[in-house]
Amino acid sequence: MNNNQSQLQFSPSKKIPVTVLGATGVVGQRFLRRIANHPWFYPQFLAASDRSAGKKYAEACRWRLSGLSYAGYAEAKVVPCSPELAFSPIVFSALDAGPAHEIEPLFAEAGASVFSNASAFRMEEDIPLLIPELNPEHLELIEMQKAKRGWHGAIVTNPNCTTVMLAVPLAILEEQFGLEAVIVTSMQAISGAGYPGVSALDIEGNVIPFIRNEESKVESESNKILGRLVKGENVISIVPKSFTVSATCTRVPVIDGHTLSISVKLKSKTSLEKVVEAFQNYKPKTMVYNLPSSPKHFLRFLEEDDRPQPRLDAEEEEGMCISLGRLRPCPILDFKFISLGHNTERGAAGASILNAEMALSMGMLKEVDR
Ligand SMILES: NC(=O)c1ccc[n+]([C@@H]2O[C@H](COP(=O)([O-])OP(=O)(O)OC[C@H]3O[C@@H](n4cnc5c(N)ncnc54)[C@H](OP(=O)(O)O)[C@@H]3O)[C@@H](O)[C@H]2O)c1
Repeated sequence: MNNNQSQLQFSPSKKIPVTVLGATGVVGQRFLRRIANHPWFYPQFLAASDRSAGKKYAEACRWRLSGLSYAGYAEAKVVPCSPELAFSPIVFSALDAGPAHEIEPLFAEAGASVFSNASAFRMEEDIPLLIPELNPEHLELIEMQKAKRGWHGAIVTNPNCTTVMLAVPLAILEEQFGLEAVIVTSMQAISGAGYPGVSALDIEGNVIPFIRNEESKVESESNKILGRLVKGENVISIVPKSFTVSATCTRVPVIDGHTLSISVKLKSKTSLEKVVEAFQNYKPKTMVYNLPSSPKHFLRFLEEDDRPQPRLDAEEEEGMCISLGRLRPCPILDFKFISLGHNTERGAAGASILNAEMALSMGMLKEVDR
């Protein structure tokens, strides 16, 4: 964006209290660290399972992040995931899909705007599946969701931690050249499996060529994210894209950062240079908003032969940047390349918080006090 363009600035009159559901887990800790230092939000409730409720946060949680231990909340009391005991106007959910399916609607019904990492509601037709740089207009589903479900609040989801690194380059290719088919193989970090996750004996010096329930998510979510919002008289819907994705998901001995090897077949013929240009010139839809969690560079295209790498590139821009590289012709489809991003930041906590910032900035959360 050029410096003369004005930015749309949301600025709450006082910090907004938020609840973290699943606050003791891998993603929950990331939420807390971000929220504890956020200019718009502060953590009002840290909620987790009955195993943790009633304990001090430091007793319930194996803190695994750098910086201030427990983000300064060691003494906070963990509360149960119930709206009676843990209601805030904005709720971030790092629950597993099973509990999320039961618990998130209770908060939405009670009037909270729930920003969820779980897969439980991602593919429901009235629930936004959001990457704010790509499809912020999908937030318009919120009104229909409230009317249909009788909720005062709403649920907004972010994609699976592998989908986000896929959907971003696919969105650019679809917009510029049209997409026909995609083959993707993921090399997913251990932290993607939660804590304690995969046993060291299973993953050390090894590759596990199976992640339960993962491939179907990676094969379907991009089509919804890139789908077109259609407004009828009484109904708003998403018409999903029709390209086909074939995914193989593997777990590798990397702590943070999912790496994807992607091959694409395009609808129109183009050159490698034009594809690089398209990646380099993409203008994210967040750029007119001054969002605290927006990375300065949403997408980087790296020229080096051996990049991106999780160790060198996953932490870029506090884990919110997606790195592409190794673009080359594919002898079977048209082009192939590598995409990499931080699974628990860009793929989870950072993504959800960015969704909330975007929804507030677009005026979509009228019930949240300014
Ligand atoms: N890790 C990633 O890279 C990643 C990326 C994107 C999305 N996600 C999604 O984010 C969610 C959390 O993943 P994670 O990796 O953080 O998992 P995790 O480390 O296993 O943490 C799970 C959290 O959920 C709580 N919990 C479990 N069962 C519960 C129940 N019945 N009622 C209330 N709370 C319950 C746990 O509390 P206790 O400590 O009390 O058991 C813990 O706080 C999942 O839906 C996952 O698919 C993860």
